[in-house]
Amino acid sequence: MNIAIIGSGYVGLVTGVCLAHIGHRVICVDNDPEKIKKLKKGIPTIYEPGLEALMHKCMKRRQLFFTGSIKEATKKATVIFIAVGTPSKKSGEADLTYVENVARAVAINMESYKLIVEKSTVPAATGKRIEHTVQLNLPKKYQGGKGRRLEFDVASNPEFLREGAAIEDFMHPDRIVIGVESKRAENILREIYKPLKTTMIVTNINSAELIKHASNSFLATKISFINSIAQICDRVGGDVLKVAEGMGYDKRIGRSFLNAGIGFGGSCFPKDVDAFIRLSEQSGYPFNLLKEVRNVNCEQREYFLKLIEDKLWIVKDKTIGVLGLSFKPNTDDMRNAPSVDIIKALQQEGAKIQAHDPQAMGQAKKIFSGVHFCQDAYGAAKGAHCLLILTEWDDFRHLKFTKIKQLMRQPLIFDGRNLYHDSHLEQYGFEYYGIGRIKV
Ligand code: UGA
Repeated sequence: MNIAIIGSGYVGLVTGVCLAHIGHRVICVDNDPEKIKKLKKGIPTIYEPGLEALMHKCMKRRQLFFTGSIKEATKKATVIFIAVGTPSKKSGEADLTYVENVARAVAINMESYKLIVEKSTVPAATGKRIEHTVQLNLPKKYQGGKGRRLEFDVASNPEFLREGAAIEDFMHPDRIVIGVESKRAENILREIYKPLKTTMIVTNINSAELIKHASNSFLATKISFINSIAQICDRVGGDVLKVAEGMGYDKRIGRSFLNAGIGFGGSCFPKDVDAFIRLSEQSGYPFNLLKEVRNVNCEQREYFLKLIEDKLWIVKDKTIGVLGLSFKPNTDDMRNAPSVDIIKALQQEGAKIQAHDPQAMGQAKKIFSGVHFCQDAYGAAKGAHCLLILTEWDDFRHLKFTKIKQLMRQPLIFDGRNLYHDSHLEQYGFEYYGIGRIKV
């Protein structure tokens, strides 16, 4: 199948590389010439485990190409995936400017049947708007009336990839969702995903769009739910790890996404929760449950800061070591990372921050000023009055804690991700605070 992916950001690039890997001929498009220059040389513009090797393999087999031209991609491909950004407006609503621009650019350049597939996360009913935009912008000769009609279909195919595990998720998905309004579109999408043996959910476009927003919002709800339980644990003397374990054995609940901590971040959950709240409001239904999910998430960061202020006492002029900056492990992505709010708040109170992250320091340098970046965890611990764990990288699981303790000025650890067992660190003589694990 000849496929074009428009937008070579996180979703677009991973999808493009993986579709090429399962046997399609893929051309990835981006309007950033620098990005295309790098990609053409085989250099991925994001960090994702396994992506670079797969990209090289597909390029070598001549199944993966890059271009800056939507015209070229539209000409070469029958199936066009839209994978451009859908950032938040001030109101929280998804800004669909880029989606509209792409729909128009594709339409203008269409000369034969195309299946246009939404891959970006979009609010319900966006498919209808894409269809309308394409129809209005087709070359005049194809706009019906006396002219020839040019057939096209629009479909929705939301992605469920997690950063850091995206290739594994693509190759072994829990399900593939396609929203279609014609048999032709359904058959093409079935053909594309044939090599991946999994359940395929076929529905209309609006439902497919809703599945994506509902899934991310539900996962965010699980996180805020367990964070609320953690708050109660800290007040009555429970251990949220045990509570989550006990709940998780119930198959109807499941253990995943019940990790309490400093809350969810990233480029998806905060944005999608906002957009879903807006969409619901516009539809006439106030989704109050989801509003509370968002509130709980913000409060978790403040709660962590209060804990630090309470136990460290005076923050001003204290040296604070930070382990982990990215919004979650195995990525260099700093978008909406809880570390940003936490570090900036501590800096405002006069703390000196020294931080280490295995991958995200390059991105973090663009965000923070006055943070001293360290080569490793030991550098971040050196001379620190306390150590914060803000991302649960595997690298931090097995540190030499005797050495860390020697390096630190005070043996005080605040674990915003519940990476450690308190007894484990207490045996080295640390005072340890996790989330939802305070003994009353
Ligand atoms: C999320 C979804 O998991 C993907 O299915 C979806 O495709 C993607 O958004 C998207 O819409 O593009 P991602 O943002 O990569 O993926 O990261 P997650 O692993 O879902 O984590 C999101 C945030 O929740 C992170 O900040 C993580 O630290 C936090 N989290 C996750 C918790 O605080 N507790 C948990 O138990 C799980």
